[in-house]
Amino acid sequence: MKRCDATTAWAALQGHFEAHGRDFDLREAFTRDAGRFAALSFDAPEIFADLSKNLVDAATMQWLLELARQCDLEAQRDALLRGDIANPTEGRAVLHTALRAPRGAGPYSDEVHAVLDAMLAYAERVRGDAGLTDIVNIGIGGSDLGPQMAVPALQAYGRPDKRLHFVSNVDGHDIAPLLQRLDAKHTLFIVASKTFTTQETMANATVAREWFLAQGGTDIARHFAATTTNVAAAAAFGITTTFGFWDWVGGRFSLWSAIGLPIAVAVGERNFRDLLAGAHAMDRHFAEAPLEHNLPVLLGLIDVWYRNFHRFTSRSVAPYHQGLKRLPAYLQQLEMESNGKRVDRDGNPLPYGSSPVVWGEPGTNGQHAYFQMLHQGTDVVPVEFIAVKTPAHGLADQHRKLLANCLAQSQALMLGKTAAAAAAEKAPTAAPGIAPDVLARHRSFPGNRPSTTLLLQALTPRSLGALIALYEHRIFTSGALWGINSFDQWGVELGKALCNALLPRLASGDTQGLDASTAGLLKRLTS
Ligand code: F6P
Repeated sequence: MKRCDATTAWAALQGHFEAHGRDFDLREAFTRDAGRFAALSFDAPEIFADLSKNLVDAATMQWLLELARQCDLEAQRDALLRGDIANPTEGRAVLHTALRAPRGAGPYSDEVHAVLDAMLAYAERVRGDAGLTDIVNIGIGGSDLGPQMAVPALQAYGRPDKRLHFVSNVDGHDIAPLLQRLDAKHTLFIVASKTFTTQETMANATVAREWFLAQGGTDIARHFAATTTNVAAAAAFGITTTFGFWDWVGGRFSLWSAIGLPIAVAVGERNFRDLLAGAHAMDRHFAEAPLEHNLPVLLGLIDVWYRNFHRFTSRSVAPYHQGLKRLPAYLQQLEMESNGKRVDRDGNPLPYGSSPVVWGEPGTNGQHAYFQMLHQGTDVVPVEFIAVKTPAHGLADQHRKLLANCLAQSQALMLGKTAAAAAAEKAPTAAPGIAPDVLARHRSFPGNRPSTTLLLQALTPRSLGALIALYEHRIFTSGALWGINSFDQWGVELGKALCNALLPRLASGDTQGLDASTAGLLKRLTS
């Protein structure tokens, strides 16, 4: 397979960017082409996507699709889904798609469905156990962010008598105040860790166990469960209720596995199965739809266009649904841990940018914080709006306001406002001495700022599953074109090793051999 910059399509895209891309104007494009919205909007399972407010034209899309073909994207995708070693630096297949394949379909089906059935039966028992009211998931990264994102997203499917809590940070300020509010008799701890060695999780799990015993708790089997690939370590820790998974499930792709237990407790078996079904529908779309109608592929291609030709360095995600408040954090790990790489699969330095910075907040909150920069800042940041047609509440007027805000933001980013238009408006409370043209320049917007809008009919387990799978495959697409391994995460290791080396020095105060800055800081912290 070819790296993107070794293809003729890459060179053609460079020429196309210089000739038509750099100065592309969205407003003109809509004026020129009455069919633009129809041509650049797509239906995928559970999701309608409007890509028409992106800085692309038909030729851009043709060349990007050609780039995908020249990089053997389809062959790379098929190899991934088949279970070939897609993560060579760890010697692993990458098969989160197998976790949501129907019974009898997909690799490892028997093992997957045996654990799924057992995990869901356990989740139903917990739901039926009136004595267990508080469920605390202890995990971090991929063992935390998925359930922490999905549980509030599916709040409408939850039960008021089951409160889900998430503890991740090794900072004691995370677990300590929570424990103060809990009653050991009514609490279930789920220790979630693929490796069962992660410092933060083991520290919090140890605190939880000590607290439970100190509160007079005795029945560890009823009050502790573990979700892990390392069942032996969980047993050594004293946890016998364990749900396993496999090394071919990456941490950031693991919410579909036993790691999804808190979601299953919150929403129940049927809804958890619907979540998997939604993701599977998106898997089929990714596997089967022609590239030119394949939504994750199209999004991944536009990501490459923005990152490597326009050289945009970040993308903002704005979910206009409060339930999706943790989606940006979830996507940060999914995309930045996957594609935040600086060498290709053969270890050669990349001569082009890889993962953008992914960030965001739910709308409308973000509008009153950082949208100023999106509209008038010096950097262009493509924005991804996620809107949901039917809310789970009956506040119709508020929902209309929410949707109007969402549409208005993408419209404002695109249309902007000229200085002449700003000058024609009634001037607000400007200082008397300010020249009208200066004021107009402050109050004008460049516009032509790109965005994508994803529309969901409703936020359901099925649509959430499809949405997350859409992001997974889109990230795979850009990673495949960049020729990187999207499935390892060596970048987190150095900090872990240095932390372990520094830990004893925080007790002893020993600074010998340290760099001057670290030594100075350590001295202040220990003296
Ligand atoms: O931060 C690195 C990482 O390995 C993530 O990839 C992973 O999701 C997280 O730590 C937690 O790991 P574990 O599930 O093994 O505790």
